[in-house]
Amino acid sequence: MTSAGGERDRVLEAKERLGRKLLVLAHHYQRDEIAEVADFRGDSLELARRAAQAAAQYIVFCGVHFMAETAAILARPGQRVLIPREDAGCFLAHSVDRVQLLDAWDRLSAVMDVERELLPVAYVNTTAEVKAFVGGHGGACCTSSSAKEVLSWAIKRSPRVFFIPDQYLGRNTARLLGIPEEEIALWDPHHPPQDLAPFKEKRLILWRGACNVHVRFLPEDVERVRRKHPRVRVIVHPECRPEVAKLADEVGSTSYIIRKVTESTPGTVWAVGTEHRLVARLAKENPDKTVFSLADPPPYCSYMSLTRLSDLARVLSGLLKGKEPGRVEVPGEIADPARAALERMLEAVG
Ligand code: 13P
Ligand code: SF4
Repeated sequence: MTSAGGERDRVLEAKERLGRKLLVLAHHYQRDEIAEVADFRGDSLELARRAAQAAAQYIVFCGVHFMAETAAILARPGQRVLIPREDAGCFLAHSVDRVQLLDAWDRLSAVMDVERELLPVAYVNTTAEVKAFVGGHGGACCTSSSAKEVLSWAIKRSPRVFFIPDQYLGRNTARLLGIPEEEIALWDPHHPPQDLAPFKEKRLILWRGACNVHVRFLPEDVERVRRKHPRVRVIVHPECRPEVAKLADEVGSTSYIIRKVTESTPGTVWAVGTEHRLVARLAKENPDKTVFSLADPPPYCSYMSLTRLSDLARVLSGLLKGKEPGRVEVPGEIADPARAALERMLEAVG
């Protein structure tokens, strides 16, 4: 067995040898051992942008599968995207597949002209096939930091928007845009409604999906931390329940949370509602502030936790031997419409 220090040395040495041919990207939820050796750390939007602009021949994506798939869709011909753990999924991405989406589209077509009256918007936390469906129907992707711009883009273009699959991100974003509750309906793919007529009257249809990590934060947690720390600032990710987002002082993407905490004045007390590896790193990097999880015990993303230095080391040594372990490939007929949905997002945010 190789020690953690040995694995780190192997990774650093391989990175040195591969030089500019290699770009290692890491999401903020990755373990410290990965975050520390990555070339760039970011939220989903920043990572998608970095991947799209990268000159490197190999992009090794330390995150979850949909993120690497997004990078592969945006990659230039000849560029290779690799993921150290192919089993790193996402609860949200698993909550919708193409068959369920086709079924919903078909059922809704009984009460509306779906092609003209319903525009799909997919959170990037979806498979390439779901993105391809969305792109093929004129819709766009969004991330947590671009949801407001993309949803606003969509409601200007269509009488109705189908927001897939995170109902809470959808509802939190709708609130920011002033879309009232009465104009929102929920689509449950496991129990499709019998009476479809009400959907015709709505502006926003939300897929009934949620992230198992972010649903752990509850309104009681906000009340508890406010009782214990009267000066606390509560900051949460928009995948949290709307009841929690409404009680928070700030709501934003992982990078937004990092920026707000880092730029706050010394002595500020923060309760953070997102994945715990990010929160623990923020606490370590901001010793002049008090930073802790909004939930007790704090939630971890089991998928993000999968990637270890040994996995990254294995991919990099494979590359040095001319192999491409963990390569993520998306067939052209899926990648092309999926890319259209991603490019619409990138255009909407400028
Ligand atoms: P960000 O876009 O904020 O990085 O979020 C991605 C994610 O998966 C949150 O759970
Ligand atoms: Fe997916 Fe939730 Fe993990 Fe983010 S925290 S990658 S949404 S499972």
